[in-house]
Amino acid sequence: MEKDKDKERLIDAACCARKAAYAPYSGYFVGAALLAKDGRIYTGCNVENASYGVSNCAERTAFFKAVSEGAREFTAIAICGGRQGEADYAAPCGVCRQVMMEFCDPKTFTVFVAKSCGDYRKYQLEELLPAGFGPGNLKK
Ligand code: THU
Repeated sequence: MEKDKDKERLIDAACCARKAAYAPYSGYFVGAALLAKDGRIYTGCNVENASYGVSNCAERTAFFKAVSEGAREFTAIAICGGRQGEADYAAPCGVCRQVMMEFCDPKTFTVFVAKSCGDYRKYQLEELLPAGFGPGNLKK
């Protein structure tokens, strides 16, 4: 996934998914768009709960939607977040990085942390989760 068109499509989808964020407690609204190897995009938003710890991040919503629909291979994710009406560089939390590690090759999986299509930071998962623990560690 290195085509500019794919990148824009992904960031657009994340910004659009952010509109559905349910964040009455933090006021921090996040959208994510996950690109599968077959070209499909799965979106997600954060979904908070009055019992705060039950809240789910946008990235994990996207991953769990995708995996529950049979997708297993992914090339990139875009994340858009911030307080209402503001754009922030909303880097993924540690738990979401670990979920990425479960399904993605840390050397090739790309994470776009975007304020907009023209203003984003680009990482490889291995930069965000160095020396991570993953499925490979449990192979016999
Ligand atoms: N949040 C995400 O959706 N993704 C992250 O990786 C970081 C945090 C959400 C969780 C919570 O609803 C709000 O942002 C504030 O932490």
